[in-house]
Amino acid sequence: MQSVGEQTYTQAVREGKYDLYVGNLFGKYDNVRTYWEDQLTRIALRPCLTHLVDRKREAGQKVRICDLGCGAGQGYQILTKIDRRDLDLGLQHQRVLNEDEISTYLGLDISQAMVEKGSVLFADKPQLQFAQADLREGLGKIKQEQPFDIYFSSYGSLSHLGRQDLVKLLTDVCEHGHDGSLIVLDLIGRYSIEWPDFWSAESESEKVRQYTMSYLYSETARQEIDIESFPLRFWAGSEVKQLADELAAATGTGLEVVNMMDRSILVGRHTDTHEYNPALKPIRRLINSLHEDYLRTDLGDLILDLDVPDHPQITPRLQQLMKSWNTLVEYCQHRLCHNFCLPELKGWNDFPKPLQFSLMTMDRVIADVGWMWYGDPRANIIEPQLGYALRTLEYDMQRGSGCGHGLVAILQLKK
Ligand SMILES: C[S@@+](CC[C@H](N)C(=O)[O-])C[C@H]1O[C@@H](n2cnc3c(N)ncnc32)[C@H](O)[C@@H]1O
Repeated sequence: MQSVGEQTYTQAVREGKYDLYVGNLFGKYDNVRTYWEDQLTRIALRPCLTHLVDRKREAGQKVRICDLGCGAGQGYQILTKIDRRDLDLGLQHQRVLNEDEISTYLGLDISQAMVEKGSVLFADKPQLQFAQADLREGLGKIKQEQPFDIYFSSYGSLSHLGRQDLVKLLTDVCEHGHDGSLIVLDLIGRYSIEWPDFWSAESESEKVRQYTMSYLYSETARQEIDIESFPLRFWAGSEVKQLADELAAATGTGLEVVNMMDRSILVGRHTDTHEYNPALKPIRRLINSLHEDYLRTDLGDLILDLDVPDHPQITPRLQQLMKSWNTLVEYCQHRLCHNFCLPELKGWNDFPKPLQFSLMTMDRVIADVGWMWYGDPRANIIEPQLGYALRTLEYDMQRGSGCGHGLVAILQLKK
């Protein structure tokens, strides 16, 4: 049977890469994963999850979750750490989904090492169960269980399945789920700047490419060891919508696409490895540095000058995003040394709204904390805020078209 990355995942677990860390300059739980990717996934999920949990609360019921390709249970951490709204300074957390509101979280994964790791990490929480399962065979014996409220996946798990296998799995999910169940697909985006050679794929076989998680290894290790590669299916946003229509027609259910999000458009994992696009700057490493305490980043390194393939919808959006990104970075570079009146910035009136907003934010951040002497306000406050401002640009300017490393699609069943 073809590799599903089992060697990579078993080794990653053995080396502690799936332990629960937060924040890092490098590796699985780097700062971008923690402060950008996990947070943006939560932001995308918040409205529909809030609605679902409110309905369950009103009915006096708890929530049932099935995590497809669960790894060591990362999805549980994502789902239970979403605040109901952006918090005012004086408030404590108010979670959308509290841990005691979950009756079952069932994590399914093909890797026995992951299943064992999840069971150990969450041994104190009896509502979490992990089981080995090959999702290429659909839901299998899970179909005999009660329906789930959420069929969840995170970080490319479902890109391990070819289109046909994914259709089979989602057909089972459509039949098994109830009216209002959420289906969260987390796929790998085809139009990422990380792999310009994949953009032109037309046939099904061209949309499946060999992939490696070499980013889990240091640069030295990458040169020295043989790193496994395995096939992944790369997705465009329009294809996911088409897939939902097809599934709805075939199963006779309503399947509404509630939200689609491109995640990590300019900061995908492979911007650092050059595995598929040697022309890229190591942008992820630089953003990791922005978020790191007591570490100053050379902002000049963040300026992008990148050719992307021609695509009528994707290319203009990416170019607009990169231009806005550069304007914000250049402004911050200048603002750190000089006081400046924002409306005097050339082209201000034509800037996209998200850019105007992030420029105003950074102007205030620098004005408000620049005088401080405690710690290192540039490294510890201004640079992380610039990281968040760049994250906001990416999020506000994306349209869920498949141009990020990740493509998150939230679907809802109507029965
Ligand atoms: C990139 S990891 C994501 C893990 C986790 N969801 C997270 O958010 O970090 C992909 C996971 O999919 C699992 N996987 C790959 N092929 C699978 C299959 N056919 N059936 C079930 N799980 C699979 C892998 O073992 C791995 O744990």
